[in-house]
Amino acid sequence: MPKVLCIGSVYLDINCLRFPCEEGLPIEEERIGNEYEVITGGSAPNFARFCKRLEIEATLVGNIGRDLFGKIFRKMMTASSVTLSLMECEQALTNIGINFIAPNGVSVLTVAGSANENLAEEWVSKSVNNHIDDVAYIYLGGTFKLPHLMPYFESLAKELARRRVSVILDHGSVPKDASAETKRRMRSLASSVNFYLPNRSEFLGLWEADSLDAAAEKLMASGPSMQRLVVVKDGSAGAVGFTSDERITVPAYDTPIRSTVGAGDSFNAGLIRAMSLGQDLESSMDFASAAAATAISGADFAIATIKAIRKRGSRISPQLNPASKGILKPGEKIA
Ligand SMILES: Nc1ncnc2c1ncn2[C@@H]1O[C@H](COP(=O)(O)OP(=O)(O)OP(=O)(O)O)[C@@H](O)[C@H]1O
Ligand SMILES: [Mg+2]
Repeated sequence: MPKVLCIGSVYLDINCLRFPCEEGLPIEEERIGNEYEVITGGSAPNFARFCKRLEIEATLVGNIGRDLFGKIFRKMMTASSVTLSLMECEQALTNIGINFIAPNGVSVLTVAGSANENLAEEWVSKSVNNHIDDVAYIYLGGTFKLPHLMPYFESLAKELARRRVSVILDHGSVPKDASAETKRRMRSLASSVNFYLPNRSEFLGLWEADSLDAAAEKLMASGPSMQRLVVVKDGSAGAVGFTSDERITVPAYDTPIRSTVGAGDSFNAGLIRAMSLGQDLESSMDFASAAAATAISGADFAIATIKAIRKRGSRISPQLNPASKGILKPGEKIA
């Protein structure tokens, strides 16, 4: 089984589902919802959880406070069988995300807390040193929430390239107040990793471009021509993959939506799983889309087993999803 070390910002998410927020949330007015769920959130925890479902061993490195939400976070991650390397910071508050999701999938996302900004470089580097000899991948998730670790991540990526450990980056949304220095460092990191997996607005925002092709061109010109894969996630429009000589578009699956929070992270896990099984880029992106659709429709990664993802692929007609021909076939590579 391949192993991945997932490093990133972590949250306890309270998702208010089918919430009346299609037009946003007004001030000084109460909005009433009904259904909600409490789940672990953040790109690295989501990716780790999803990896476990897809038979990849995952260890999570992050920071929580010594508080009730931290305890709940730890308990829920443990229940997902993810191995934990969590720093526990006395002065910090576990980060929470309070998310409102409308029936049509539109969402309003809010966060609070201070644990992520207190994740210490010493803790991360100790965890990396403990695992570096037996992991195939290191995943850096939600890294814009960890600007203080950017110099470390840059040097880590260089070290991992020498050691032939693949680095996966999903930096998450580009904060409005991100400094020019943080953005410069993030571009440098993005151009030195093996798998760079932003969504459309993150990609255009970081590379200051107005089309995916223009952003990809800037990225490709920015670093050495190494074996690098960029996959840009584009919500219901699917995803676009770039290598130095290919551009591949894969549509999204037509699926009922419960919540799209974490869609991108389930996509990332599906992509890495299929690639680790030797599938080509197009087939891997298709498997990733099916993984995301499975998670979106159930809003819980627990249902997204390899079997469920395959089943979803086989239900889609070629007209609806021309890329579905690439889905992993039963018994093909996974016994
Ligand atoms: N409405 C949708 N219908 C079908 N598939 C979707 C939908 N939204 C997202 N997806 C699938 O999930 C993938 C990733 O979604 P998205 O582009 O929203 O990522 P993201 O913004 O990084 O998500 P997050 O950061 O919330 O995890 C898409 O490429 C697509 O395959
Ligand atoms: Mg994302």
